Amino acid sequence: MGTVVDARLTVDGNTRELALERATVGNDGVSVSTLLRDTGLVTVDPGFMNTSSCESSITYIDGDNGILRYRGYPIEQLADKSTFPEVAYLLIHGELPTLDQLTSFNNRISRHMHVHSGIKTFLEAFPRDAHPMAILSGAVSALSTFYPESVGQDESEIELATVLLLAKTATVIAYLQRRATGRDLIEPVAGGHYVTEFLRIGFSDGAGALDVDPVVRRALDLLLILHADHEQNCSTSTVRIVGSSQANIYASVSAGVGALSGPLHGGANEAALRMFDDIKASGDTIEQFVAKVKDKAEGARLMGFGHRVYKSYDPRGAVVKKVADELLDHLGANGETFEMAKRLEEIALSDDYFIERKLYPNVDFYTGLLYSAMGFPTQMFTPLFALGRMPGWIAHYREMMRDPRTKIGRPRQIYIGEVERNYVSLDDRSL
Ligand code: CMC
Repeated sequence: MGTVVDARLTVDGNTRELALERATVGNDGVSVSTLLRDTGLVTVDPGFMNTSSCESSITYIDGDNGILRYRGYPIEQLADKSTFPEVAYLLIHGELPTLDQLTSFNNRISRHMHVHSGIKTFLEAFPRDAHPMAILSGAVSALSTFYPESVGQDESEIELATVLLLAKTATVIAYLQRRATGRDLIEPVAGGHYVTEFLRIGFSDGAGALDVDPVVRRALDLLLILHADHEQNCSTSTVRIVGSSQANIYASVSAGVGALSGPLHGGANEAALRMFDDIKASGDTIEQFVAKVKDKAEGARLMGFGHRVYKSYDPRGAVVKKVADELLDHLGANGETFEMAKRLEEIALSDDYFIERKLYPNVDFYTGLLYSAMGFPTQMFTPLFALGRMPGWIAHYREMMRDPRTKIGRPRQIYIGEVERNYVSLDDRSL
């Protein structure tokens, strides 16, 4: 990507200089904030294909070259060497923690994993077959009512809300897993490893015992790392725009959960697994299914493929595929669906439709297979994405609130409706 050295805009023969915003790496920006005042024109960019909404120092993506870095650290190194709590600390505080800092962070989260009995009553009130993402969004918002000492914008309140969100959403999601599999809720135990305790709450028997498989634990830890942040994606932008009105962090993250639930975003992991099942049930060959995807009239998409930013292999998808080989082999789940997914990928990657549009597998293509093999029901896949994304949402909320340039998010529009007309009374209206 070339560096912008100069920017001018000519409108009706009048040329204006536009200010440049320099990135440390990646795309520089052309500032258009004063364009309306100076020219009466607004910029048009549906879907924010080319709009940067903020300056951020959290995550960097180079979509052409399949690069993803958190706070400068390549995702491959973090996936290989780090743990989810350490990555959460890195994203939120900007630096890798010392041993003391990490221990204290882990202890604080662990001590706060208990949830108020009112939250449990709230969770139990939903229909058994309610989608867990809807419950999760409500539960995150409801947390603000149970922990009012953490809803303000003071440094100490934000710090407390950070720990409460990480701790209590893990318990809530583990409870949703218990409900989805017909188990009664059990109490968290302080002092455990974050992912181990999450698995124990989600999967243990009524007495709370679970022999956590270290391979499963490591795989889940790694998947959470891969999901932990992804700069200004749909849900993170939602968190930012809600927070820009100075709504509290719970309201903002709750809205992010809602955005994540959509099948074009986090809901794609669930949609991809359902797609594999549908292909099997339909009796179509992979080739026939791919032909349907290419036929726009069919309205089908290859779920878990394509990305707004990545125009090469999603680096998260590459790590997931490697883990899939190891974990599915370990769990003996290396069966028909995995083979079908690999074949689907192979056919799509050699097909002109996908090549021309630069459509590659994204992080969601294989994750559902892994979650399923670990024992999670399909509707729990997107809540797992939410658990992973929690540090990212929190980090962006905090960064935005500290940025003196933050303004309330308020896009403009191109109005295309009636210009002006007079009210017609009901009696005078014709059909
Ligand atoms: N299957 C078939 N065609 C596709 C797909 C797909 N998965 N994705 C994009 N295309 C086509 C699309 O039809 C369009 O073709 P044309 O130029 O002929 O009209 C072209 O590729 C560009 O697509 P787009 O919809 O304009 O691209 P976008 O940047 O607006 O959308 C996307 C990105 C992720 C929403 C889209 O690729 C998609 O719907 N993928 C499937 C859902 C999915 O896997 N989502 C998870 C994203 S990664 C996890 C996350 O961060 O949320």
